[in-house]
Amino acid sequence: MSYTNLLLSSEKGIATITINRPKKLNALNQETIKELHDAFKTAENNSETKVIIITGSGEKAFVAGADISEFADFSVEEGTHLAANGQKILFDFVENLSKPVIAAVNGFALGGGLELAMACHFRVASDNAKMGLPEVSLGVIPGYGGTQRLTQLVGKGRAMELIMTAGMIDANKALNYGLVNHVVPQNELLDLCDTLASKIMRNSPTAISAAIRAVNSNFKEGVNGYQTEITEFGNCFGTDDFDEGTTAFLEKRKADFSGR
Ligand code: COA
Repeated sequence: MSYTNLLLSSEKGIATITINRPKKLNALNQETIKELHDAFKTAENNSETKVIIITGSGEKAFVAGADISEFADFSVEEGTHLAANGQKILFDFVENLSKPVIAAVNGFALGGGLELAMACHFRVASDNAKMGLPEVSLGVIPGYGGTQRLTQLVGKGRAMELIMTAGMIDANKALNYGLVNHVVPQNELLDLCDTLASKIMRNSPTAISAAIRAVNSNFKEGVNGYQTEITEFGNCFGTDDFDEGTTAFLEKRKADFSGR
């Protein structure tokens, strides 16, 4: 599939997806959401891809939100469908992807942009980044998981304040809140993400997928995360990666994981 609003590159096991609508500060219109679904799915199914990095084009924005021009005249039913469909095909989809997804937050991450970054497995920001959920300033609330994931990541009081004030925090405050893991100058952002991806790629892909499922289960209603961990832990013992990892350790060599 060729994409109108995305740029894709792939090198040494790292697939980088760049949202490319710089004139609209990479705002997420429906076409872009569908393209992102397809790009993430393709990367997940590509055995060459081990880690995915998502970022925005230009120096100003990661994503400045859902495209306001598309939903300004929506009805209650259309608004409900917008949130439900978006959560299903992009935000929940990314969170539950079997391969690690790193958000390289290179500027404004607002509304749906911050929600997309929060759906990723972790976030790295450039020092010019600004983050917030300004939806209440438009008379609406975050609809792509923002009320839930921001609360999980920064705690209820901080999430309430950020959402109610519709304010923005800078990269260092986001670091202090635990919303992002690292802050670097913009020209070092993708290098740091590549370095982190390379470290991840030394490890077992099957174990990493199991870890994603186990960690995510902490946040799933009605799921006992400790039980998920026990099941996933047990299943690891039946993988080639476990044989290779333990054998390599005992033979004092580097493991060469097949991902099976
Ligand atoms: N949806 C649609 N278009 C958007 C957008 C969004 N979420 N965010 C930015 N844009 C567009 C602007 O309309 C403008 O388009 P134009 O040149 O055709 O008029 C272009 O991107 C550049 O944005 P502009 O507002 O001129 O840049 P700025 O530097 O003055 O301000 C922001 C940057 C991020 C502060 C401002 O664009 C903004 O507040 N955006 C909306 C953020 C938001 O509320 N997001 C949540 C949506 S639910």
